Amino acid sequence: MDLTGKNIIIGICGGIAAYKTPHLVRLLKKKGANVRVALTDAGTRFVSELSLATVSQGPVYRSIFPPTDTHGTDFTTHISLGEWADALVIAPATANTLARLAAGLCDDMLATCFLTLRPGKPVLIFPAMDGQMYLSHSVQRNIATLKSQGAVIIEPESGELASGQCGTGRMPEPEAIVEHIETALLSLVHSSPLHGKSIVVTAGPTREKIDDVRFLSNYSSGKMGFAIAKAAGMRGARVTLISGPVGLATPPGVERIDVESAAEMRDAAGNFFPSCDIFIGAAAVADYRPAAVIRGKLKKNDPELQFTLVKNPDILGDFGQQKNPVQLAVGFALEQENGIDNARKKLEEKNLDLIALNFSDRRTSGFEVDTNMLTLIKRGGPATELPMLSKEEAARKLLDTIENICRQR
Ligand code: C5P
Repeated sequence: MDLTGKNIIIGICGGIAAYKTPHLVRLLKKKGANVRVALTDAGTRFVSELSLATVSQGPVYRSIFPPTDTHGTDFTTHISLGEWADALVIAPATANTLARLAAGLCDDMLATCFLTLRPGKPVLIFPAMDGQMYLSHSVQRNIATLKSQGAVIIEPESGELASGQCGTGRMPEPEAIVEHIETALLSLVHSSPLHGKSIVVTAGPTREKIDDVRFLSNYSSGKMGFAIAKAAGMRGARVTLISGPVGLATPPGVERIDVESAAEMRDAAGNFFPSCDIFIGAAAVADYRPAAVIRGKLKKNDPELQFTLVKNPDILGDFGQQKNPVQLAVGFALEQENGIDNARKKLEEKNLDLIALNFSDRRTSGFEVDTNMLTLIKRGGPATELPMLSKEEAARKLLDTIENICRQR
C-alpha cells in the first residue's frame, strides 16, 4: 500500500528491540509516509535520537515541555502532534509504558499522543519484553484495558529473547510491523462512507480575461480545495480536482483538470454533474467577467476606462439545481457580516446539503493563508463553529461531517 501523505507517529520505549526502529522509520518513509518519533527517556538508552531524527527527517519528541530557547512559542506541540496523526504505532511497547497508557498518564510526548489522537485513528501497540513479564497479571490487565479502549495489541512473537531464553516477547520485524500498519489504515479507508465515491472538488481562483495580457481575479490560493481533495483521496474516494490557476502540487491519487476562467470551470465540472456522488465547490469563482475580451493589449490612451461586466455561471448552484436525491452538494460561503444568516440563505438558494461559512482576513482565515475558521451548517441542522485549524485539519472535519450525512441517509 502506498502510504503517501499518511501521518504516522512511532512511539519507541526502552526495550532492546528499539534498535530496530530506525529501519522501521526508513521503511515507512520509503512508502511515502510522514513519520514523527516520540521516544521515551528509557528509549534513549537503546536507540539514538540522532539516528531517528535523521531517518525521520524531523525532530524527535520526548518531553511535553518545549525547550526554553523557543520561549514557549511551540507550547501546544504536545497536543497538536497527536491531532496530526493518522496512526499511532508503539513499538516496542514496554510493561512500564503499557501501565502508563492504561492509567491515562501524560508525562511524556508518547503518552500525550495516545491521549490526543483523534477518535477513530488506529493505535497499534507491539509489546516486547521478557516472556514471563509479558504473561504477568499486571501486564495482561493493562493490555486488556488498552484493548477495551480500541487499541490494537499485536501479540509478541515467540523465539529467542535478549536474555538468551526462548519465550513469547519478541517484537515482530519492521517489515511485519509495516504490514500491520497498512492493514489498519486500509481497513479504515474501507470503512469510510466516502470509499469508492466519486467526488468532484473545485478549487482556486478563476481568471477572467480583460485583454490578452490582463485579467480579473481574486486572492484565492486553492489551499482549502486541495486539502479537501487530498483528504477525500485518503478516505478512498475517486477525486477529480478542477482547479483554477494555482501554484500547488496535485495531491497523490487525485485526477486534476486545470482551467482558467469560470466558463471553463463550468464546462469541466458540468461533465461530472450526472455521474458524481458529491460535488464540493471550494473555488473562489469570479462572479463577473468582462462582457468582451479585447484582442491584443489594451492601450492606456484614455484618462478613464469603463468595462461592462456580465455575470458568470453559478457552477455549484447549477449542480444544486440539477442533482438527484442521492447526490450531495457542498459549498463555501465567504461572508463579511450576518455570516450564518447569509450562509443559510445560500444553502437554500443553491440547494446545498452542507455549507462551510468562512471569512477572509488573509492572516488567519480565508484566502492565501494556511489556516481557516469554518462554521459548518447542514441543511436543517445547527451551525457548528470550528476553531482556527490548519486547512488540512479543517478539510478533515468537513469530510467527517459529509461522512455523517452519508451515514444518516
Ligand atoms: O454565491 P457565492 O459566490 O457566495 O457562493 C459561494 C459558493 O458557490 C462556493 O462554494 C463557490 O465555489 C460556489 N460558486 C460557484 N460558481 C460561482 C460562484 C460561486 O460554484 N460562479
